[in-house]
Amino acid sequence: MNNKKFIVIEGIDGAGKSTICSYIIKLLNNLNIHNIIKTHEPGGTPIAEKLRNIIKFAKGEKFSHKTELLLIYAARLQLLDNIIRKNINTNWILSDRYDLSTYAYQIGGRKINKKIILFLQNFINNNIKPDITIYLDVNPLIALQRIQIKMYDRIEKESINFFSRVRKYYLKIAKKDKNIKIIDANYNLKNVKSSVEKIINKLILV
Ligand SMILES: Nc1ncnc2c1ncn2[C@@H]1O[C@H](COP(=O)(O)OP(=O)(O)O)[C@@H](O)[C@H]1O
Ligand SMILES: [Mg+2]
Repeated sequence: MNNKKFIVIEGIDGAGKSTICSYIIKLLNNLNIHNIIKTHEPGGTPIAEKLRNIIKFAKGEKFSHKTELLLIYAARLQLLDNIIRKNINTNWILSDRYDLSTYAYQIGGRKINKKIILFLQNFINNNIKPDITIYLDVNPLIALQRIQIKMYDRIEKESINFFSRVRKYYLKIAKKDKNIKIIDANYNLKNVKSSVEKIINKLILV
């Protein structure tokens, strides 16, 4: 039964990804699954965490969207080579964001040409696909209200328009891909968790 899976949680800032990742670990532990590597993007290795810090908090000069993109890919390659490729056959992997985020944020949000993303995916040989992606779909107005209590980082400071474009792109891809499960995360956490539990229970049977 313990057939290792690679699970990704996606959604805009404030969708509930961190909360749901913790919940999934609890669910898996309850199912006696303990060999779980929890990671996140951008980040997940010492070098990638340094890049994450720059991506989220750098200031003092113009930060071009292309620089942001390249740093995200540099961080992803570190994570792929040092964590994901090494553990994919022996451990469950749970990632808070993965490459779907790049499609939604960089193509949908930043309006970077999709061809560039496809080129970079190929360049870093990003051939590992998640077994399942749970996309937490939420209205940006609701999501941003949720994170207002903490300090916004550089990306969270983007406009509602930006997050609406990101959401639209997430939905566009998610609707076409059977490995992406869309959960309505506008609802209260109890409902969201119950949907997640159903997905996980199904996943462990395959
Ligand atoms: N479905 C939900 N309804 C209400 N509040 C939520 C919901 N999901 C998450 N939250 C709360 O919103 C905040 C942001 O959630 P978090 O998991 O950090 O989102 P993300 O990691 O996607 O940015 C947290 O305070 C969390 O408790
Ligand atoms: Mg989070």
